[in-house]
Amino acid sequence: THRTQDRAAETVGDALPELGSEVLPAVPGRFVNTPDTDLSTRANQEWAEQITHRIRTSRLGQAEADAAVISTTDEVDAAIRRALDAQPAWAARPVAERAGVLRRAAQLYAARRDELLEVAASETGKMLEQGDPEVSEGMDFLLFYADQMEALEAQDDLAVTPRPLTLVTPPWNFPIAIPTGGMAAPLVTGSAVIVKPAPQARRTGAVLVRLLHEAGVPEDVLILLDAPENEVGQALVSDERVDQLILTGAYDTASLFARWRPGLRIKAETSGKNAIIVTPQADLDLAAKDVALSAFGHAGQKCSAASLVITVGSVSRSRRFRSQLADAVLSLPVGYPTDPTAQMGPIIEPAAGKLAAGLTTLGPGEQWLSRPVQLDETGRLWSPGVREGVREGSEYHLTEYFGPILGIMHADTLDDAIRMQNGTAYGLTAGLHSLDPDEVAHWTAHVEAGNLYVNRGITGAIVERQAFGGWKRSAIGQTAKAGGPNYLVHLVDAADARTDR
Ligand code: ALA
Repeated sequence: THRTQDRAAETVGDALPELGSEVLPAVPGRFVNTPDTDLSTRANQEWAEQITHRIRTSRLGQAEADAAVISTTDEVDAAIRRALDAQPAWAARPVAERAGVLRRAAQLYAARRDELLEVAASETGKMLEQGDPEVSEGMDFLLFYADQMEALEAQDDLAVTPRPLTLVTPPWNFPIAIPTGGMAAPLVTGSAVIVKPAPQARRTGAVLVRLLHEAGVPEDVLILLDAPENEVGQALVSDERVDQLILTGAYDTASLFARWRPGLRIKAETSGKNAIIVTPQADLDLAAKDVALSAFGHAGQKCSAASLVITVGSVSRSRRFRSQLADAVLSLPVGYPTDPTAQMGPIIEPAAGKLAAGLTTLGPGEQWLSRPVQLDETGRLWSPGVREGVREGSEYHLTEYFGPILGIMHADTLDDAIRMQNGTAYGLTAGLHSLDPDEVAHWTAHVEAGNLYVNRGITGAIVERQAFGGWKRSAIGQTAKAGGPNYLVHLVDAADARTDR
C-alpha cells in the first residue's frame, strides 16, 4: 500500500515538505510507517541509477569519520567530559523541542535518502533495495520515539529523569536504521550520546551524525568517536561515567563488554540461528520464495536471516519443495551494488574463519543442494549455498554463520521441527509456513523466539507494528523491544510521581 512518489522531487531547506507528506494520510493519533521507494516507476528507477553511478567513487562521510578518529584514552576522557557538560542543557529543553529535533532529522533523512543509500552501498556493499527500507526504518525510529517521549512525558503518574550518558555501538549490517534508532531513543529522553560506529560502517555513521546535528542536536550532545577496538575502545566501554550501553552485535561482544564493566546497563540485541518450518499444510510456492529471500537478502548478513529451513513429513520426502527452493536460489543474480541487475550483494569482508569454513566444507551427512562458488578475486562475492541433510545437534544446526548459507533439516512431525527450531542457544526470529490454523496456534504456543512470522519471510521488522528483540542468547539486558512502546521507559530513571499514595 505504499504510495508512489517521485524521490527526485524531494528537496530540503525552505522547500522542506510538511512532515506527513512522506506518509499515507494519517489516522489521528496513530503512528504511520514511512513508505519505501517504489522502484517500479521510471522516475524512481532513474533516481536509483544516479545513485548507482556515484557508488564506486563515493567518499561521503570520509572527512567527518576521519575527524572522529581517536587513539588515546585521554581523548576518550575529553569526549565524555564534553558530553556530560553539554547534557544538562539538552535535558532541560522541553520534550517538545527534543522531539521536534528528531522530526526535523526525519525530514532530512527523507531529503537525503539518496546520500544515505550511496554511503551505505559504497562502504558496506549494501544493495539499494536493501538500504532503502533502512532509511524508512530510520525515519520511523526518529518519528516514533519522538511521539513516544511526548506520551511518556504526558503521564502524570511518572517522574522521568534522563540518564546523563549513553554509549551506542551499532553494527555494520544495518548501517542506517540501527544506529539511528540507537541514537534517537536516548537523545529524545535528554541523554547525551557517544556513538562508536562499526569500523566497516564509519562513514555511514558519520553521515547520520551530521544529519542529526543539522537537525538541531548540539554537537557536544551527540559525539561520534571512532575508537579502535583495543584498550582505547575498552576504556570507553568501561568508563564509570557511561550510564548505559545500547549495542547490536555478536553475543560474544556483548558478553565481553558485560565482563569489562559488571553492573553496566546493557541493552543488547545479539546473535541468532533462525529457522523457518515448512509443513505439508504450507503453500510451498510461497514458502520457497520466502525462505530464499529470508536466507539470502543482504547475503544472509542479518541477525534476523533464515539460516535453516526445517521441512516436516511429506515436504521432506517430496522433491517439489527442494527443487523449487533450488530454482529460487539459483536464479538470484549476485553482484555489487554498482550492478543494477544484481539482487544478492557481496559479503562485508573476504570470507574468513567460520564463514569461510561454512561456505566450503560440509558436516557429517550433509551435501550441497547448491554449492557456494566464489565469484571473483575479492573473496567477497559468493553464490548462495544450500546444504541438505543437516543433523540435529550438529555444528551447522547450532552455530551462526552470518553469510549466504542455508541448511535444510528434516523432521517427522511439527513437534520434532519445533524442538529443532528451539534447540539452539538463540531465539531471535522464527518462521512457520502452514495454512492450518491449528498448526499455527500450536507453533505459536511453543516456539521460543522474540519475533515470530507466519507465512512470510522472517526479516524486516517494522517499527511500532512489530517491535524487534530476542530471547535467550539473542539479547542481553533487553527489557523491551526496539521500536516498541516500552523501549524509552527502560532508558530513563522513572519514579512514581503520585505523592498522595
Ligand atoms: N530489524 C531487522 C530485521 O528485522 C534486523 O530484519
